[in-house]
Amino acid sequence: MKKILTVIGARPQIIKAAALSRAIRNNYSDRIEEKILHTGQHYDMNMSQVFFEELCIPKPDYNLNVGSGKHGEQTAKMIAGIEEILLSEHFDGVVLYGDTNSTLAGAIAASKLHVPIFHIEAGLRSFNMDMPEEINRIVCDQLSSILFAPTNTAVANLKNEGFEIAPAIFHGNKHRQVYNSGDVMYDNSMYFATIADKKSNILREYGLQANSFILATIHRDYNTDSKERLTDIFKALYYIANEYRIKIAIPLHPRTAKLLEINLDVDLIDKVKQLAQILILPPVSFLDMISLEKNAKLIMTDSGGVQKEAFFYEKPCIILRSETEWVEIVENNAGIIADADFNRIVNAYNVLSVSNMSFPQLFGNSKAANIILDKIVAY
Ligand code: UD1
Ligand code: UDP
Repeated sequence: MKKILTVIGARPQIIKAAALSRAIRNNYSDRIEEKILHTGQHYDMNMSQVFFEELCIPKPDYNLNVGSGKHGEQTAKMIAGIEEILLSEHFDGVVLYGDTNSTLAGAIAASKLHVPIFHIEAGLRSFNMDMPEEINRIVCDQLSSILFAPTNTAVANLKNEGFEIAPAIFHGNKHRQVYNSGDVMYDNSMYFATIADKKSNILREYGLQANSFILATIHRDYNTDSKERLTDIFKALYYIANEYRIKIAIPLHPRTAKLLEINLDVDLIDKVKQLAQILILPPVSFLDMISLEKNAKLIMTDSGGVQKEAFFYEKPCIILRSETEWVEIVENNAGIIADADFNRIVNAYNVLSVSNMSFPQLFGNSKAANIILDKIVAY
């Protein structure tokens, strides 16, 4: 029996953890025991608890309740808390997801105590070192014993950094391993798609018709924290909603909700709030989000996860960033990088409303969790 500690903290990590927990419950309960540690990075009901309930994720065994804070302060509290738990109980490995401060803290705490790290979503790179996520994922990859890359691009990125050529040796003489496991988010999106069709009422609740609205999410720090960028994005949303008479549903991340009031001019906020086509919603549950994604005409986002879900559900996507880790989406003409630039966003909307795009199966076969768990059992 292998005993693992899953460290999660931010919304997308909680959602991703559902895929592994479900596979452990269904197929690996005789070989893997999982305990869950929630750092408390995200804590609002609609950023955390709702996902545990809806996606049947076991209640966390530990919650550090660190809350929000500056990077160093928040990460330091997490490292101290995770370290205590790793010292108090033996684990054969720590499972880390993605690139948040919770990922970084888990990587630092576990590596110093020689606990093997299994990194899910390894190898992704934006090549933009201004992003806190790029720093977090590079550090975590370096410290990991098994790197589960979700795409061929992620494997290639790791090879370019010398991963398979110069394998590191970890505690107990073990070598680092790199695998293309596919994407656990694809597992989840396929598993919950029909459940969302049956259970979600969000379209009715907000009067949305299939294929006649845009779904938008914005939360990336360089978009929310910059007056100029946030203004350009919201000017473009306003223009598209008004000019093309199309509804735009925006489930707003709490970070953005707070900064909207600070970084947008009162005139623009008032115009946005008064336009009936723009629906600013609180963060929605995962099943509601799937329903919005599956039924949207087009998706606009700076989220990593939402870009991919757009692709899984075969929706065109305007990427509100200057680059993406998910280059396959752009290569298949299913997404356009428009940055936070008014003209580029409006042009992308016009192009994607009429262009031909393809959605090949690039993110695995919806069995990534099983591939990952087989390797963990064998490690
Ligand atoms: C974090 C991750 C980011 C990920 C995102 C997913 C880091 C550095 N960033 O960004 O990679 O894409 O989560 O959503 O780890 N807040 C609340 N309630 C909450 C959580 C946050 O009000 O439950 C507000 C607080 O004002 C907080 C702000 O949102 O200061 C930012 O939260 P934080 O977790 O620091 O970063 P995110 O922007 O959420
Ligand atoms: N999501 C959700 N409700 C929302 C917005 C997003 O359930 O209101 C889900 C979304 O479907 C995806 C994940 O949260 O699975 C993406 O998280 P987020 O955009 O916060 O972070 P990122 O992926 O950029 O790290």
